[in-house]
Amino acid sequence: MWAQMKVISVVGARPQFVKLAPIDRALKAGGHEHVIVHTGQHYDPDMSENFFSDLGISAPKINLGVGSDSHAKQTASILTGLEEVFMTQNADWVLVYGDTNSTLAATLAAVKIHQRVAHLEAGLRSFNRRMPEEHNRVLTDHASDLLLAPTNEAMTNLANEGLESLALLVGDVMVDVCLDTQKISQSLILESLDVKKGEYFLATIHRAENTESRERLLEILGLLENMDAKVLLAAHPRLRAKLAEFKIDTNFNNVQLISPLGYPDLVCALANAKAAITDSGGLQKEAFLLHTPCVTLRTETEWVETVSLGVNMVDNNPSSKDVAEFVARTSEITWPTQMPYGDGQAALNVVRCLEDALLN
Ligand code: UD1
Repeated sequence: MWAQMKVISVVGARPQFVKLAPIDRALKAGGHEHVIVHTGQHYDPDMSENFFSDLGISAPKINLGVGSDSHAKQTASILTGLEEVFMTQNADWVLVYGDTNSTLAATLAAVKIHQRVAHLEAGLRSFNRRMPEEHNRVLTDHASDLLLAPTNEAMTNLANEGLESLALLVGDVMVDVCLDTQKISQSLILESLDVKKGEYFLATIHRAENTESRERLLEILGLLENMDAKVLLAAHPRLRAKLAEFKIDTNFNNVQLISPLGYPDLVCALANAKAAITDSGGLQKEAFLLHTPCVTLRTETEWVETVSLGVNMVDNNPSSKDVAEFVARTSEITWPTQMPYGDGQAALNVVRCLEDALLN
């Protein structure tokens, strides 16, 4: 075993804070030094700060405060800011998470100055090159020194790209954090939103392809307005901004617009929903873990296991008959017994892999 490592985690966006929680805990439990660097990609308290307090994550040592901008400018600001951080911190590992602009920028900044980079959630692919996240994850995988894959499917994707020798299967850290949160949750979100178990849908829509056009957004809102139970729509700041920009009347009949939920509230609201309707990657998997059927409004998903096991319907057409039929029979779904995302020990596996790789 490696005596003590110094690991820098670079995070910037909401889903990365969630994945950071079990890693921070496991690194500290292993007696390692963990330096958290926040790029500032997400900065609203309910997109950032609240996750650190709710999930007991150590405070970031550095926050670059880059904020929102075009892809190029945001990525470039993070790249420039991190170079100096990495040079002064001199860590054994830079750990990058998922597929955001913060992930790619951190990877580039690190490899250029010969800092070892490990990519958590390596090997996921949508095979849709129009998604910014797809470029981010492909480029990150091909530049990293160690690829920590959540699933067998991700391992296969990495092998198909000639990256097998750098890849290790660790499981999905989201299992660790999601199920732990559910166990200890004392959330009162159902009471405060005045909904009952199984009598509402939980929706999130934030991707550019679903929010950039007024017509597309209205089509999705049309689906939500016509569901046979109330829809809680937890609104990412981009969705709020687009509703205002497109002058869409938010006095909905069936949709209740709510603020982004903190993690314990999200887990509770999702676990008790009739189904989820989303374009988020993370929510599809959290829905799977919490035994809530999911409709994904996208052309494809990286979490293909949820689809093949019959609990996630991926359909980019909100008016599709298939979506209506799937939603109508969600109560009849028998939950699959297969667990493709590991046993909730992924963060410990990650720490072990980082230690072992330093010895070899
Ligand atoms: C980013 C990630 C995406 C991830 C998502 C989780 C990239 C390319 N995409 O997308 O993979 O699923 O985070 O939410 O990195 N905004 C605020 N306050 C905030 C954050 C965002 O107002 O705290 C608004 C801004 O108008 C901003 C827009 O949301 O321009 C989009 O934010 P950005 O970080 O660019 O991308 P996300 O859509 O959040």
